[in-house]
Amino acid sequence: MSQSSSNSLDMSRVRADYPILADVTYLNLGTYGIMPASAYRNFESLLSDFEQKGVANTVNVNGKANTTRERIAHLLGASPKEIAFTRNATDGINLVLAGLTWQAGDEVITTTEEHEAMNHPLLFLQATRHIVVKRVEVSPDPAVMLERIESQVTPRTRLIGMSHVTCETGTRLPAKEICAWAAAHSVPSLFDGAQALGAFPIDVRDLGCDYYTSNGHKWLCGPKGTGVFYSRLDKLVQLVPAHVGAGSLAWVDIHTSEVELWNSGLRFEYGTRAWALYAGLGCSLDWFDSLGWGSVYGHIASLSDYAKKRILEQSYLQLLSPRRFDDSSGLVSFKVRGNVSFEIGRALREKHKIVVRLVPHYNAIRISTAHFNNEDDVDRLLSALKTMVLGE
Ligand SMILES: Cc1ncc(COP(=O)(O)O)c(C=O)c1O
Repeated sequence: MSQSSSNSLDMSRVRADYPILADVTYLNLGTYGIMPASAYRNFESLLSDFEQKGVANTVNVNGKANTTRERIAHLLGASPKEIAFTRNATDGINLVLAGLTWQAGDEVITTTEEHEAMNHPLLFLQATRHIVVKRVEVSPDPAVMLERIESQVTPRTRLIGMSHVTCETGTRLPAKEICAWAAAHSVPSLFDGAQALGAFPIDVRDLGCDYYTSNGHKWLCGPKGTGVFYSRLDKLVQLVPAHVGAGSLAWVDIHTSEVELWNSGLRFEYGTRAWALYAGLGCSLDWFDSLGWGSVYGHIASLSDYAKKRILEQSYLQLLSPRRFDDSSGLVSFKVRGNVSFEIGRALREKHKIVVRLVPHYNAIRISTAHFNNEDDVDRLLSALKTMVLGE
């Protein structure tokens, strides 16, 4: 089904496929997506076929996994050759950081709102290769963001690596403008799309990024342990894999010791892979296709708008996420008067069965406005908060 149709979602059908929603107000897809029951049944049947029958299996799980690669490529606006399967979004960041060559003193520009997925590999590179990491504050405004980046750039700048949507305030960075700037300065660009892919349309060619990483387990609601990495084909050659094995080399000669890497995402894949998981991600994609991506994206956007509107109406709450959906995504973060988010998070879960994510950096609460959430979920959260904070 097309990515752009914009019919509204049949919410009773959607929610019926998520039995947990009868019991829990699940406002944290941004941490773990949950698999629709019908997609899970399909996944379970091919998992069991593969795991219990081995090479005597009856379903072509590898073939299904490769179809998933094609569909992920389509979702990203890329070609299948530009996609590598990974285990998570962090893997893709590591493929870039480990694949480039570093000299002590080389610099990376990132932001102050990165997930550990970016921060930890960068800190490790800083400790082991003595690179310099520069962090700029985030803004959805291209002019502001470019000014901040330009203030940090030097002839030693070797990489721009940042979130497409930040995990803390859900700010959508102006990736297209940043990538254009990076290309003009011959600096490779890497975007972490863990909170973007599946939440709004992505077109990596339009963004102009060199590298893009994401996962299957959040907004795509696939199995945990599935990640996807995009590299522009002509930028692949700059990434020398730290690990190779059966699958990553296009050609070898054991007598002459000559080797040639695949000039595709396959260069990062080797050995026996989690084929059933990638095929299972395809089961989730089937489910989304049956809803229509346009409807899914439209729902996430309108519920995000609704949540922000309701938060702004409450004098005891302070919205941290940008107001416009185009400057943000399906993550909505806010502070609660009194800065008691930790206790509130626990009480929401234990007393009200409402699951949210806390943002320690800002002492804030983050919710996700997923395709399976509705206005009642947001209202339930706000009324629980009102009771707790104002005693009303
Ligand atoms: C922006 C961002 N990047 C990366 C991650 C981690 O993704 P993964 O566990 O797939 O590496 C998360 C979420 O947990 C995230 O919010």
